[in-house]
Amino acid sequence: MTKPLRIGMIGYGFMGRTHTNGYKRVGDFFPELEYRPVLQAACARSEDKIQAFADQWGYASIETDWRKLIARDDIDAVDICVPNNLHKEMAIAAAEAGKMILCEKPLALNSAEGEEMCAAVEKAGVPNTVWYNYRRVPAVTLAKHIVDSGKLGRIFHYRANFLQDWTINAELPQGGAGLWRLDAAAAGSGVTGDLLAHCIDTALWLNGSISNVTAMTETFIKERVHTETGQKQKVSIDDACAFMCHFANGSLGLFESTRYARGHKALYTLEINGEFASLRWDLHDLHRLEVFDYKDEPALRGWKSVHVTDNGGEHPYMDKWWVPGLQIGYEHTFVHQVADFLKSLEDGTPCSPTFRDALETQKVCDAVLASAQDHSWKNV
Ligand SMILES: NC(=O)c1ccc[n+]([C@@H]2O[C@H](COP(=O)([O-])OP(=O)(O)OC[C@H]3O[C@@H](n4cnc5c(N)ncnc54)[C@H](O)[C@@H]3O)[C@@H](O)[C@H]2O)c1
Repeated sequence: MTKPLRIGMIGYGFMGRTHTNGYKRVGDFFPELEYRPVLQAACARSEDKIQAFADQWGYASIETDWRKLIARDDIDAVDICVPNNLHKEMAIAAAEAGKMILCEKPLALNSAEGEEMCAAVEKAGVPNTVWYNYRRVPAVTLAKHIVDSGKLGRIFHYRANFLQDWTINAELPQGGAGLWRLDAAAAGSGVTGDLLAHCIDTALWLNGSISNVTAMTETFIKERVHTETGQKQKVSIDDACAFMCHFANGSLGLFESTRYARGHKALYTLEINGEFASLRWDLHDLHRLEVFDYKDEPALRGWKSVHVTDNGGEHPYMDKWWVPGLQIGYEHTFVHQVADFLKSLEDGTPCSPTFRDALETQKVCDAVLASAQDHSWKNV
């Protein structure tokens, strides 16, 4: 007998869809799990839109006020898929109501908010996780296993990029549906919280904590019309950010993100260089992990491109899907996170990244933005 986990989803946008797909698929592909998500209720401000979403995806009911959703007795877990400025209030209310929480990233607008959210979930003792989903790309999880095995030896360098090009047009407004990412009041920051937060989360996971940072940011287009006022207003987000850092393990880090790299849509790449081996990964080719192993026979040394699709236990998560050689994609990372969350409920263990783990990323983001302000090194 499976146990129901009744989901209350807030938001029906990009993430509302990816998560719902995860809830719907997980029982088919992870049938051994004790808990099964039930699409109990979906919530957004527009009744027509949330009803259409609920009908399309199979939610049993709707709410137009998130406080009512959180107050319902028939909701076990609240999923927060709304702009960043709403995460704190919703998460604290959900924790106080004793609900489990699955919150989108970045955890909050800044680490002060994040601290309050951690205190709330820890006081309530409710299971919580943050959707840094790239940890659950099988090739990235494999990278984690390889790093943890010690195969790389001492780590010298970690570098990551997240490059896009969708805000180059100066006529693009800020604020409102879809464009809240350009409005600092809703997003907190620009590429730092939106894109680098992913790179930082993976880096902390793979290579341990970051001690200090020095950063530069740029806002290339200084004013844009705000959708809500119709007026040109100052743009306060960072359009681009680059930072260097020291990791606690003595390695050096180099990170870059922008929405002005013409030709790049979502080029998240990472590379880690150790004494004996290096690893490289690219979101545009997400099922491959590139590996260079200096311990290989000298004449055959070179970069290998490992197709991470074997299902005999060699490659994480892949025994749940098809046959070797057939790859999976972006949406599966969310199925994996749902599966890991359900497993954590069974085992009574935290599902990382927890709010507390995600707070660490938030602290690095804060230090990056502070460093870019006064051009100095900042301790994290
Ligand atoms: N993990 C990832 O890779 C990833 C990718 C994209 C976005 N995100 C994060 O997910 C969150 C949502 O982003 P998105 O791309 O889905 O945004 P989106 O603009 O597509 O959707 C936002 C949703 O929030 C709803 N909403 C806004 N205000 C609301 C309110 N007061 N009450 C109820 N609903 C409200 C909107 O109706 C909309 O459905 C953000 O925190 C973002 O940073 C994470």
